Amino acid sequence: MNDMIQVENLTKVYRSFKGAKEVKALDQISFTAAPGEFIGIMGPSGSGKTTLLNVLSGVDHPTSGEVIIAGNAMDKLKRDAMALFRRRKIGYVFQDFNLLDSLTLKENIALPLILDRIAPKEIEQRVDELMAFFGIADLANKYPYHVSGGQKQRAAAARAIVTNPAVCFADEPTGNLDSKSATDIMGMLTQMNEERASTILMVTHDPFAASYCKRIIFIKDGQINLQIQSSGDRKAFFDKILEILSVMRGEA
Ligand SMILES: Nc1ncnc2c1ncn2[C@@H]1O[C@H](COP(=O)(O)OP(=O)(O)OP(=O)(O)O)[C@@H](O)[C@H]1O
Ligand SMILES: [Mg+2]
Repeated sequence: MNDMIQVENLTKVYRSFKGAKEVKALDQISFTAAPGEFIGIMGPSGSGKTTLLNVLSGVDHPTSGEVIIAGNAMDKLKRDAMALFRRRKIGYVFQDFNLLDSLTLKENIALPLILDRIAPKEIEQRVDELMAFFGIADLANKYPYHVSGGQKQRAAAARAIVTNPAVCFADEPTGNLDSKSATDIMGMLTQMNEERASTILMVTHDPFAASYCKRIIFIKDGQINLQIQSSGDRKAFFDKILEILSVMRGEA
């Protein structure tokens, strides 16, 4: 089967105004992801993880290099086609949720489908199903500022996958969550990966969350430093991740 994600020599340079120093946030990154892979991205703060997700998802443009998702070269898509492609094929769980305060949780989750003019009955069914899946069905009519961080996180995850995206990007989806909520979210991402065969790329600092992935890509200074593959034994993978993180900290 063809790769779901192909990344070739991806480079992103942020040029600041007024002659400030430029930052090379991504430096010739290349990798591929097969359909249905569950990949963790780890690395120190400032190593380029969020930049990588933003460039892969089309939120931001690379300086050079190529991103091909589900056979579509991202830089070849025109503006409107890109907007559609992102809405239909890509889910993004943002670290700060990005829920709209003026909409209820249910409306937030339904939004991508409403924009796509899906029949109201189908929207209702899909959104209800997902809210139940994420354990927030009783919060359907609450506004984001009336629910907890963990509940917002679940709503953000539900919105990201409501369109059944081929690829889901998640930036620290367990950041700032208690361990019960973090375990819930990871269980749901795993279920989504296994039952819906979504390809998932998740940025995390948390070795526990990372242990759910099948592969981890470690990034340092905008470059791929190391990749490891799980044998399927989550505890063993967790120990391996801890060991690598401690070695990397020692080197830093
Ligand atoms: N919009 C921007 N303009 C200029 N520089 C930026 C911008 N966004 C990020 N950077 C810089 O690019 C580098 C990579 O940032 P990025 O946000 O991708 O890191 P990260 O690995 O996600 O870090 P963290 O773990 O703290 O979230 C950093 O040096 C950062 O300061
Ligand atoms: Mg980040």
